[in-house]
This record gives sequence, structure tokens and C-alpha cells, in this order.
Amino acid sequence: MFMKNLKNFPKNFLWGASTSAYQCEGATAEGGKGKTIMDIANHGDEYCDFSVASDFYHHYKEDIALMKEMGFKSFRFSISWARVFPNGDGKVNQEGLDFYKNVIKELRASNIEPIVTIFHFDTPLALEEKGGWSNRELIVPAFEKYADTLFQELGDQVKYWLTINEQNVITLSNLKFGMFSKGKRFTATEAFNKNHVMFIANALVMANYHKNYQKKQKGLIGPAPNVAPAYANTNKPEDQIAAMNAGVMRNWLYLDAYVRGEYNPIALKYFEDKGVELDLRKGDLEILKAAKPDYIAFNYYTSMTVEHSDAEEMNKVMDQQVGFDIPGMFRSVKNQNLDKTEYGWEIDPMGLRYAFREVHERYRLPLLITENGIGVRETLNKDNTVNDDYRIDYYQKHIAAMREAISEGIDVIGYNPWTAIDLVSTHQGFSKRYGFIYIDRDEKDLKEMKRYRKKSFFWYQEMIKNNGDNIM
Ligand code: BG6
Repeated sequence: MFMKNLKNFPKNFLWGASTSAYQCEGATAEGGKGKTIMDIANHGDEYCDFSVASDFYHHYKEDIALMKEMGFKSFRFSISWARVFPNGDGKVNQEGLDFYKNVIKELRASNIEPIVTIFHFDTPLALEEKGGWSNRELIVPAFEKYADTLFQELGDQVKYWLTINEQNVITLSNLKFGMFSKGKRFTATEAFNKNHVMFIANALVMANYHKNYQKKQKGLIGPAPNVAPAYANTNKPEDQIAAMNAGVMRNWLYLDAYVRGEYNPIALKYFEDKGVELDLRKGDLEILKAAKPDYIAFNYYTSMTVEHSDAEEMNKVMDQQVGFDIPGMFRSVKNQNLDKTEYGWEIDPMGLRYAFREVHERYRLPLLITENGIGVRETLNKDNTVNDDYRIDYYQKHIAAMREAISEGIDVIGYNPWTAIDLVSTHQGFSKRYGFIYIDRDEKDLKEMKRYRKKSFFWYQEMIKNNGDNIM
């Protein structure tokens, strides 16, 4: 955009795209899979549920062939915990494990590097019914066993592991919308204790991988939060402090725990002021300290613009993905300088460069983009394609920003935007499409689920062929 002397993308850069299990697999009652909280989620009659989704379960060979045709070097997907352990714990479901073995085999045969998320929102229902992430005694050992099974069974073929997808979004949603709990909002003490349990589970799983598997399997493990840079709305000092607060509560509370093994002091002060009682047990800080990720994967969609807030109550506005205000710390406002998607998400390519710089400054680890993309209502043209020039424009600008970050010396190892194929949005159905590949189904009418290449498919194919040299 503005920079002279751009560096090229590294030679082995992981160009690919992302999905998650509950959003694309379908076959929710097949192959011995147990139920997850997503199977009972209901986002209203207007939207479909997750039962068929993109039917990746039955189409994975065809979909991977299309990814290969696009020239993917990597594919980031998640494993459904309840497909491997139908009750979240107990006996392994071999059929479920075999499904993922087959997916990975297909990817390897196509020279596509699997990037595997261990947990992407879909807690097994059997665990949720016993308290889920609030029940530390139950869920932590179950998660450790699940992850250990994956390392044992799939670890010789998987070199990039991601522990928990968007723990920060889960926690902030628990506070604000109850997105993962049928609308039940949690108190700050409940939400931040669930979050603490996730920190412990994450750290134990990373430490186990490092101790027992990494040497032999030569893979890497890290978390996958959603990072949103926070801008101050004005140059008022109190708005600058609000932006720092937003950065902490949205990003650094999580990354400080993952990488430095410590609680961010500003977050601790907030807990103290708000009377949040953290169930910090003897040995917990040692557990956090003993685990450090090998890299940081992060999802980036947009930045946030904030101002000072004395408010006691949550801001109810939900028109923006990042409206995760924390009363008394910051309040989100619209950024007048940015365009929005039709779903109200601000589009900020330079924010991606900003995010890279902030994360790099703080942690100095290799960085991987595991999500970035634009959700749009789309229909198939008469000539069986979708002219998604807006998506090409979106990616072009974000990839250019990433190239600038690389030119500034930041170690970025790959780009896996959201998504490879159309799938079910987390809370806005199938009509909110993100893919390079169009799947011909509607919210309720499944049609034949045929796959079609969008215009962006060919654009991304060409871009990967050039290793991004044509992007500036
Ligand atoms: C991320 C999630 O928050 O954003 C994905 O990791 C999600 O699961 C994506 O689908 C886009 O959000 P949405 O609500 O448009 O589906």
C-alpha cells in the first residue's frame, strides 16, 4: 500500500484456508459421533442447524481435490471431540478417529499440510451437561486424554497443532451473549473461571506435547485466539487508556497467559475491582509457566475502536463482531474511516499489519493466520459461478498488509483465511458465505450440495502460484 522495498513471502509459506468441524462436516449422528453443544444450538428459524452443514464428511475427497487444484499448501480444520470420544471421555470411537486419519491421508497425498485445531467451540454435550468448562475436575483430564489420543494416533502425520480456537471470544461471549450456552449469560466470576480452566487445560496439553511427543514427531503446538487491535477514538488521554484496556481484555489477557505463563496485571486489577473471584489453585501458576507455545496462530477479522466508559452495564449493541465492551474499562464505537461488510463487520486491512506488529513486539514468536475473511450473501450465476470481486479485493488488501508486516521483519509462516468451502456461520446460517468454493444449498433446501468454483478460487490459485509476488 505505502511501503517501498517489499520483501517476498518466504519459500515454504503455508497458503491455504480454514474450516471447523461442526460448521462443515455434517453427519452429526453418523459414524458413532456423540452430540456436542453445537448440535443443540438454535439460532432461530431463519437459519439452518449444523446437522448437514457442507457435508464435508461425505465430500472430503472432492473438497480436498479442489483445494489441491487451488494449489493449497495447507488446510486448517478442527477435530470434533465428540466424534473421537462420543461422551467426551471414556472409550475412543475408532470410526471417528479413522475419519480424521483418512482426511489427513488425503491431504498428505495432495501435498497439503494439515493444521489441526483440537478444540473449536464444540464441547461434547455429555461434558456440558455436567458443567463443561466450569467443571475443572471433569473437563481438564478429559481434554488432556483427548489431545493425548490425537498426538498418539495422528501425531506422525500432523506437524501443526492448535489447542483452543478463540478462547477470548468464548469468554467474552459468555459474558455478553451466552453464544455457547443457549443465551445464558455468565457472571464475570463464572466466565473468567471457565477461562482459567481453559488456560490450565491448554497449558497441560502443550506441556504434554513438548515432553512426550515433540522430539519424535517434530511438530509445533500453539493457541489460536482472535486478535483485534484496539484504537482510541480520540486523542483524549482517557480514550488512550481505554484502548489499552481493550487490548488487554480482548487480546493480551489470553496471550500473556499462553506465552508468558502469567496473568496480565491490568486484568487482575479489573478482577479485583469487579469482585471477580478467581479460583486460582496451588500450582496453577507453575502449570501456566511450564508451557510456552512454539508459535502463535491468530484469527483476524477486524479492529476495534473504543472510548472511555464509566458504565456499569454491558452495551447491548450487537451490530459489530467486536462489540465486546467491558463496563468501566472501554466502550466500542464505530470507526468512521472504515467500510463495513453487509453483516456490519468493519474492514481494516491495515489493522492486520497493526496486529502483527503488536503481537510480534510482545511475544517474538512465529505467527500464523488461521482465519481472515468476508461473509456475504451470495447466489450462483447462470454460468455456475459467483463473481465475488469484493472477496478478491478483501484478500488482496489483507495479503498486501501481511506482506508489509513481513517486510518489517515479522516472522509470518502462513495464511489460512476463512474459509475453503462455504459452510454454516457460527450464528448466522448458511447464507453468510465465506468460501472460495460455493456449495449449492440454501438454509433449508439442501439441493444436491454440488460444489462450484467462485471467481476468487481462480484468483487465489494464481496468487499461490506466484507465492504472493503479485500482491502489493
Ligand atoms: C470465528 C470463528 O470467530 O469467526 C469461526 O472461529 C466463525 O468459527 C468465524 O465462523 C466467522 O464468524 P461467523 O459468525 O460469521 O460465522
